[in-house]
Amino acid sequence: MGNLGENDIREALKGLREFRSGKTNDRIFEYPTGHPSSPTGFCFCDKSVLKTIAVCIRGGILAFVLKLPFNRPKVSLLRKMGAKIGKNVYISAGVWIDPVYTDLLTIEDNVMIGMFATIVMHEFRINGFRAGKVILREGSLIGGNAAIRCGVEVGAGATVAAGTVLGKDVPPGAIARGNPARIINKGEKDAEK
Ligand SMILES: CC(C)(COP(=O)(O)OP(=O)(O)OC[C@H]1O[C@@H](n2cnc3c(N)ncnc32)[C@H](O)[C@@H]1OP(=O)(O)O)[C@@H](O)C(=O)NCCC(=O)NCCS
Repeated sequence: MGNLGENDIREALKGLREFRSGKTNDRIFEYPTGHPSSPTGFCFCDKSVLKTIAVCIRGGILAFVLKLPFNRPKVSLLRKMGAKIGKNVYISAGVWIDPVYTDLLTIEDNVMIGMFATIVMHEFRINGFRAGKVILREGSLIGGNAAIRCGVEVGAGATVAAGTVLGKDVPPGAIARGNPARIINKGEKDAEK
């Protein structure tokens, strides 16, 4: 597909707004765009200079706070930025969370996120844009250096092993490990053993 015209961009942004406002129950919003080197309508950098600077400042503040070893400011800043965060959530130092779509992130009670994990709620492709809700259910563990892709749900009590690249859902109590992630369901022995 070629680059988007103004009408396409308006229509696309309307769809994205509806998705973000929760008007649809979809987990993922996808839209075909042109190459991201031209305006796609989805990058904050397509907006005014002031808006772009505001988003950069917001992203910079979140990235800085997430690097710190103090948990509370991270949780309260993410809540202020629209993320839904439960009780007893622990976010280790050095985690990176997508600052543009924090409203698409839900972290339930008793979740722990290990050092340098990355959580992304949007992605560009050569010919498309995708935004997705990330849901970390109660008591799940995201291991250090894991990468969680947009649109993924980690079930209650599930573990995402350190360094895992996760692009699919993890059922409750299961373990996801490796790249690409292999799912080992609760009570199930690793099939390759
Ligand atoms: C997933 C995890 C909980 C498993 O721990 P465990 O129950 O002690 O498991 P073991 O170390 O006995 O490993 C069991 C198997 O999983 C494999 N494995 C363990 N961790 C793995 C990982 N991160 N990626 C891929 N495979 C892994 C082991 O190689 C082993 O495979 P094998 O049976 O074929 O030899 C642990 O490895 C892990 O990733 N913890 C994350 C902790 C963390 O990051 N906390 C936050 C810190 S800030």
